[in-house]
Amino acid sequence: MLVIMLGPPGSGKGTQASRLASDKDLEHLSTGDILRNAVKEGTDLGLEAKRYMEAGDLVPDDLILGIIKERVQDDGKSFLFDGFPRTIPQAEGLDNMLNEIGSGVDLVLDLEVSDNEVINRLSGRFFCPQCQATYNYPNNLPKKEGICDKCGAGLEKRKDDTEEVVKNRLKVYKDQTQPLQDYYRKKSILKAVNGERPIETIFSDLAGIVDSTK
Ligand code: AP5
Repeated sequence: MLVIMLGPPGSGKGTQASRLASDKDLEHLSTGDILRNAVKEGTDLGLEAKRYMEAGDLVPDDLILGIIKERVQDDGKSFLFDGFPRTIPQAEGLDNMLNEIGSGVDLVLDLEVSDNEVINRLSGRFFCPQCQATYNYPNNLPKKEGICDKCGAGLEKRKDDTEEVVKNRLKVYKDQTQPLQDYYRKKSILKAVNGERPIETIFSDLAGIVDSTK
């Protein structure tokens, strides 16, 4: 099975994808996490991606498709993509890769969240640089202030969560990623979900949709 999580920055893709992946036995593949790890480790990919990410722009399609190709060729696995695809060429590239292995996208979950909510959430977000868990002040607090519940590492703010960069990320989302809604709607695999409700309620809806698609 192959599921895609779509939605603007801060819509809760990562929060929901990590739970959904473990609950439904899907491999969670977040291009944002892969790129942040590459930046941290100073790899060639990280050095190339850093400037785009810090400005809130998209990393070039060919780099992203290269990352995905390495993983998708391991056929037979079920994936949950979080943050990919983000442009029409990425979606077409993915379809081509999947065609080659006789597979396809089964479901696209589209989290709907307003710009104001995105700005509020991202100004209160903290993340764990070790295990990538995400927290939020005041909606989703860790048990001990500043410490990750899952692995005990110190929590940090993301460099691209400043107000100016978030505004650019929203613009980039509308210009380059939102056209994917039509792309997947035409294939009748897009399911829109209201992302402005409690995390548990959204999770229960998403889990139900995945179950009814299997
Ligand atoms: P990426 O890491 O994918 O960032 P994003 O899409 O902007 O999404 P975020 O991670 O900011 O938010 P999210 O939707 O996962 O929300 P979260 O669960 O954290 O990408 C970063 C950068 O990498 C891009 O800008 C680009 O440069 C590059 N990149 C990545 N993929 C790429 C690609 N395919 N092509 C090109 N470039 C690419 O939640 C946000 C906050 O809200 C958290 O604090 C959370 O606790 C809280 N929260 C979650 N749900 C709720 C809720 N229901 N109610 C209240 N608070 C909530």
